Amino acid sequence: MDKIEKKTKYLSATKEDIKTAARMLEENQTVIFPTETVYGLGANALDEDAVGKIFLAKGRPSDNPLIVHIGDIADLDPLVEEVPDKARKLIDKFWPGPLTLIFKKSDTVPKAVTGGLNTVAVRMPQNPVAAALLKESKVPVAAPSANLSGKPSPTSFKYVKEDMDGRVDAIIDGGDCSFGLESTVLDLSGEIPVLYRPGGVTKENIEDVIGKIEVVTKVKDNQAPKSPGLKYKHYAPDAQVFILHGTQEEIAEYISDVSKVVRVGVITFDEFIKFDGVATASLGSVSNPKDAAHRLFTALRDLDGEKAEVIYAPEISDNGIWSAVRNRLYRAAGERVLDVSKPKKILTVCTGNTCRSPMAEGIIKKEVAENGIPALVKSAGIFADGTPVSKNSDLAMKEIGIDISSHKSRQLTRDMAEESDIIIGMTSSHKQMIQALVPNKRVYTLGELSGENIEITDPYGGDLQEYRLCRDSICDLVKKSRWDEL
Ligand code: TXA
Ligand code: MG
Repeated sequence: MDKIEKKTKYLSATKEDIKTAARMLEENQTVIFPTETVYGLGANALDEDAVGKIFLAKGRPSDNPLIVHIGDIADLDPLVEEVPDKARKLIDKFWPGPLTLIFKKSDTVPKAVTGGLNTVAVRMPQNPVAAALLKESKVPVAAPSANLSGKPSPTSFKYVKEDMDGRVDAIIDGGDCSFGLESTVLDLSGEIPVLYRPGGVTKENIEDVIGKIEVVTKVKDNQAPKSPGLKYKHYAPDAQVFILHGTQEEIAEYISDVSKVVRVGVITFDEFIKFDGVATASLGSVSNPKDAAHRLFTALRDLDGEKAEVIYAPEISDNGIWSAVRNRLYRAAGERVLDVSKPKKILTVCTGNTCRSPMAEGIIKKEVAENGIPALVKSAGIFADGTPVSKNSDLAMKEIGIDISSHKSRQLTRDMAEESDIIIGMTSSHKQMIQALVPNKRVYTLGELSGENIEITDPYGGDLQEYRLCRDSICDLVKKSRWDEL
């Protein structure tokens, strides 16, 4: 990210401040303003230098085109070559509002705005502050969402400030954005209308007015996307996001297992099972898509604030406003859906279940969770009696950010072994004893799994340094194993 040090001017939604902001836009300065969808980072769309400042402030790739915002329908004509019939109909019905339309561009629009394309995206927002600003400004305003590139779009002043303080000339505080997800993007420049981004004006709404449209919201491999925004990682918080597929109970079991060793954040609905001690953000009721749309980006940002390492989110259906919620959430997840209805059951085993196997349990649990491999990991000992995990194991694990302090040793039983899909001993003698107990099960040593001929010997009674070495060799073998192929 380029370093920019501007003295950002903070404005409010008063008439006077809106005038100030309009003059700044006319002078090719950057101004962030609220819309009904998300905050936009605006500059004079007709000036290449002004537009360049937007890309710089966001750290945005310059081939990703911008939407031009207008305050009056009459401002559309100079920007485009023609306004097709279908566009007229949609404009009559949905402007001002959260619908962006793509047209063949006129020569007035610099290529810097359109990322080199011959088409231009135009939208007329309905938020009163945006509308007043755009009417007051004598120039059309190019504006992407006002987040740093790759982050969730900001839907409140707080998040705008977090990303953009010192990077733009002015920010207008207009409170919360009423809808909360970016506008619908519809391409009307070709024969068939194509929806690139679902939003507040739904596919169903559009088809009611102009008939059947096509939907292209994903990029196929090796294909140049029609809408460059489709190819970029988007809406992503710092944490890894996964969508979970399974019943409420299966999801609850999975989350409570993973959250023992990983800082988990959960996006959920009010009606779903609640989790103790796990950072949670609700999208509201399962029957209220507008509320979910309004809450989604705040939820992602808040869970980042909680320093979640992985975020688990529910499946969302693909119709009406839900399509917009689903699109943003699934893109934040890189489309990764984990089926937790049949997780692999992994059991690590050592002698006393106070040192090696609980460390291996924690390390494997974290590894599979971060790689999105649905598994439940437990541990047991061949001679175990409920004693707490050894002090040095706990300390060595805390050094790598895994808390196993609540573990108590468990005696390995035949039932426990029968229930597992894979049983992992620390040494070959563990393996032999487990095989004697359950001859038909898949039993390996950790060394075998990773393709190394290594035994994890017992650090019991040793000093912290000895435990660290044991931990490190477990980590090394776990990293070398192919958990996705088990
Ligand atoms: O709600 C919104 O649309 C917000 C507010 C500020 O208006 N703006 C917004 O802009 O979300 P941005 O830049 O974050 O997203 C614009 C999307 C991108 O995915 C971009 O690739 C696509 O629209 N786009 C813009 N011009 C295009 C064009 N000529 N052809 C195809 N896609 C285009
Ligand atoms: Mg954006």
